[in-house]
Amino acid sequence: MDLVVGGGVVGLSIAWRLARAGRTVTVVDPAPASGASHAAAGMLAPVSEVTYTEEPLLRLGLASLRRWPSFAAELLAESGVELDYRVDGTLDVAFGTDDLAALDELAAFMDKLGLPVERLTGRECRRLEPMLAPSVRGGLLAPQDAWVDPRRVTTALLAALSKLRVPVIRARATELLREGEAVKGVRLAPREAGPYQEVLEADRVILAAGVWSGELAGVPVRPVKGQIMRLHSPTPLLTRCVRGTVHGASVYLVPRGDGELVVGATQEELGFDTRVTAGGVYELLRDARELVPGVTELELADVVAGLRPSTPDNVPLIGPWQGLTLATGHHRGGVLLAPLTAALVAGEEGELAELCSPGRYA
Ligand code: GLY
Repeated sequence: MDLVVGGGVVGLSIAWRLARAGRTVTVVDPAPASGASHAAAGMLAPVSEVTYTEEPLLRLGLASLRRWPSFAAELLAESGVELDYRVDGTLDVAFGTDDLAALDELAAFMDKLGLPVERLTGRECRRLEPMLAPSVRGGLLAPQDAWVDPRRVTTALLAALSKLRVPVIRARATELLREGEAVKGVRLAPREAGPYQEVLEADRVILAAGVWSGELAGVPVRPVKGQIMRLHSPTPLLTRCVRGTVHGASVYLVPRGDGELVVGATQEELGFDTRVTAGGVYELLRDARELVPGVTELELADVVAGLRPSTPDNVPLIGPWQGLTLATGHHRGGVLLAPLTAALVAGEEGELAELCSPGRYA
């Protein structure tokens, strides 16, 4: 039996993948789909999220983006849940001379990597997105970037797992149980509801517990807090994902089919703090308004704070580690990287395995 510790988008995708391949699988999580996956915006944007020092992450992101069309189609077919998966690109916009120069540099870098991007004037940006601020002076369009609603994805994965009769046990794993070199199960914390089982035994333990992976297995994963808000508009304000740098911080807006507009996200190094703060909300709204002034008219529907599981190099940890299999440390890219992570854990995509091998921290 394969035991997946962690019921976020990564753990559930792995369990779905393994169960469909005929493996016996169990998932354990005290509150499935409630952590970083619940907070995430769902940008599938390896191109517009790329930074100069993160080419390995870009390769992983592009490989996973290629998997998303079939992953989304199969998940919809098996669960019957619409995912709001869209491939309409990301528009990265700039205001000042410095921002424009940075966009030019980024465009040249992407060109060198063979990534399809289009440099646009301010007017061309506003033709694509009429609600953009008049002060936008230029932009970079990454047409292949996509996005999806992560809350629908986890709902769909739980439905698909239920159809495959994969147990999802609502309990917290507190300790890894070792037999010699190998991890052969976990100890569980007592539960308020349901029959209490002290341990779960397994042939293989796959640790996909996000920020909690550090505590359980001593892996180098730390929480990076992200506050993120959901606004509602009767008619969509944008047709694609828009992002920009405002007051030195990156802000993005992701439109959904049902009129939701996601505005994200802060990046705060505050440990396991998940408080929503007045300052966080203020900064998100202030910066979003610089990009699209009309956001202040929208209904404020939801604000949450999630914890990104981040590694020192921002690349996830996927593969063998001290007797178990890791699938954690996905930082800003858990939703994007979920299909690839599931494939790697299932033994595919061997040529990419080295890039995210936990062995690099051995
Ligand atoms: N992927 C965007 C974020 O983590 O905020």
